[in-house]
Amino acid sequence: MYVWPETVAVCDGRLTLGGCDLVALTEQHGTPLYVFDEVTLRSAMRTYRAAFAEVYPAQHRVHYASKALLNTALAQIVAEEGLGLDVVSATELRVAQRAGVPMEHVHLHGNAKSAFELERALAWDVGAIVVDNLDELAHLCALTAHRPQPQGVLLRLAPDIAAQTHAHIATGSSDAKFGLPLAALDAAVAQILTAPGLHLLGLHAHIGSQLFRLDQLQATLQVLVEAAVHVRDQYGHIVTELSPGGGLGVPYTTEQPPTDICGYATTLAATLTEACTRANFPLPRLTIEPGRSIIARAGVALYRIIGRKYAPDGRLLYLHVDGGMADNLRPALYGARYSALLANRAAEPADTVVAVAGRYCESGDILLREIALPSGAPGDIVAVATAGAYTLSMASTYNLVPRPAVLLLAGGSARLIQRRETEEELLARDIAL
Ligand SMILES: Cc1ncc(COP(=O)(O)O)c(C=O)c1O
Repeated sequence: MYVWPETVAVCDGRLTLGGCDLVALTEQHGTPLYVFDEVTLRSAMRTYRAAFAEVYPAQHRVHYASKALLNTALAQIVAEEGLGLDVVSATELRVAQRAGVPMEHVHLHGNAKSAFELERALAWDVGAIVVDNLDELAHLCALTAHRPQPQGVLLRLAPDIAAQTHAHIATGSSDAKFGLPLAALDAAVAQILTAPGLHLLGLHAHIGSQLFRLDQLQATLQVLVEAAVHVRDQYGHIVTELSPGGGLGVPYTTEQPPTDICGYATTLAATLTEACTRANFPLPRLTIEPGRSIIARAGVALYRIIGRKYAPDGRLLYLHVDGGMADNLRPALYGARYSALLANRAAEPADTVVAVAGRYCESGDILLREIALPSGAPGDIVAVATAGAYTLSMASTYNLVPRPAVLLLAGGSARLIQRRETEEELLARDIAL
């Protein structure tokens, strides 16, 4: 059951989470519905913090990568658990602020930050702006020229490491769209060190997401340390922060191993400590940016079966459900696979292999291509596990369908943390001729 949240249980044949009956919640709040288990969420955050505190002898910070999913309640939990936040837009930054995340623990990322986003980050004194390219750097130099306090920056490098993951989520090769090629390091450092409004805090890289091989993250840290040593030797400047980004993989089916946060922390800490010791470089603050491995497992998506399609020979081909690619693009975008159950018949044998088709007008909108379930019928509730990351954060309003509600479950009670979008909200931007 390790793909499901920690508190999942089956009670009288029905799936429960955080002590709540999921079928009852769908009756109350409608479907599709996203539910998050607070215990699983906080436990992932605490495991990250405790693991690095135990194995890394210098300062460290865990920043939740809010692109995986962000809302105010989640950002409040991030702040309560003592994590920082990585944001990629002005509105994500605003959510961080309204949730009370201390701005010194917020980093602004992005390969195409707008003037407005940079200005907001500067005005609100974020801990660091992660500079992605030389044009952004020139822009930032101009914006900060008369700043009384220099703005801390990290330089995002493309370490030229092709991560073993889906091409759409591999970001570390030198021709990926993110980060400065190593060949541009000198130009960027020279510019920052002569900019009165900027302070070079450190170096950053993120090679991709859904990584199970730690050797590539180790190689990333080696590249960062080599670059830091180069900056020291060439410019006499010691950077005090290194970040290998996020990326730790999570299992979506039991064919993949459970997420090993402690093993990840131990390996990263040992690699960084060794590389710095060898280069006689002071141990920097280690900042990691997990997104998926914090939020994915805590989330379960609930859909209602609306209808079925049979083959001419009578075989059940498709269960049609009331959500799909607009709330979870991952199966259509990169063939992502999931585990699922029928929430109202969770104790019945999964003896029928079917596809679960989304409701949207694309043939590629198949949520589950091949899944064993009890033979489902209209009204049954399909519960999809590990649905917390990169689902709602990438949601659209395709076919003008309102986006789902989100609940946070704990101790037998369910709190609405994002209500279902309304038709009025969908039409609010629409202007008749
Ligand atoms: C810069 C950066 N940091 C962290 C993350 C989070 O990665 P993950 O969700 O795989 O941990 C991403 C994801 O794309 C990213 O681009």
